[in-house]
Amino acid sequence: MTEPSADTSALADQLSRNSTPYSDPLARVDWEQLSLDTFWLPERALSLYGLPGYERLTEGQRRSLSHFEFLNAVEAGLWLEGIFMRRIAASVHRDDGDTGDLLYHLHELREEAGHSLMFVELYQRSGLPRPPTAFPRLRLGNLVGRVAPFDSAAFWVAVLIGEEVPDRLNRAIHKHRSEVDPAAHAIARLHTLDEARHIAHAKDRLEQRLGRLPAWRRRVLNLPVQRVFRQFVRALYLPEPGLYELAGLEQGRKWARAAASNPHRTAFIDECVRTTLSTLRSHGFRLDWRR
Ligand SMILES: [Fe+2]
Ligand SMILES: [Fe+2]
Repeated sequence: MTEPSADTSALADQLSRNSTPYSDPLARVDWEQLSLDTFWLPERALSLYGLPGYERLTEGQRRSLSHFEFLNAVEAGLWLEGIFMRRIAASVHRDDGDTGDLLYHLHELREEAGHSLMFVELYQRSGLPRPPTAFPRLRLGNLVGRVAPFDSAAFWVAVLIGEEVPDRLNRAIHKHRSEVDPAAHAIARLHTLDEARHIAHAKDRLEQRLGRLPAWRRRVLNLPVQRVFRQFVRALYLPEPGLYELAGLEQGRKWARAAASNPHRTAFIDECVRTTLSTLRSHGFRLDWRR
């Protein structure tokens, strides 16, 4: 185990201070405002938006689609947070003598637990079923998340992708908050507030880990990172056929194919991955979610 830099410890201390006092997102959402008669995502953030077939859907079908596509992002959160909480909990026992890092990781553990509690409450309040998702099937993502060493570049690049790519969807919800359910907006907004710290930490970790890697090892890393990135982005932004059927749209496969070739969706995804791509490009990674 290598020593963390003084700057890293200073950042961890700063982030820990910013995480104090703890603000429980579960208690901050006004759950009474949650309704199935509202959109949970802005329509422009839906996978079928912009297609002629979308125009033909009833208002009720579009709303239902927004609920399940919101839940798809919730599922991404539950999956990622489950992996991350397990890894943080396991890291508590390491003896590398850095209490600043330990303290900050415990803040993240508490905050991720807060997000997952908020997501489970959403299911309980709404009564909606959990939609099918691709996340448990992302073999490489699951492998890196569970097995890559906690202090490796591979682990932190996966964390950055997992935190920042969904964060852009939450930011899109916040930007168009007048179009969505107040409780759904609060869930997205509260997540974003914590995520800003988590992303800063992941970027810092990544810079530190990659800084020590020779160029050839970064090139070798590009292939698995590309695969994790592509699979995660597609799982997050291109729902499974069964999700469309849960939303009341028949022939889910047809809708899933339509979403994958929807130019509006492609542009929306490009916008959501732009920041992460540019960070990772600055570290020498060449990534593309399309191929
Ligand atoms: Fe989270
Ligand atoms: Fe996070």
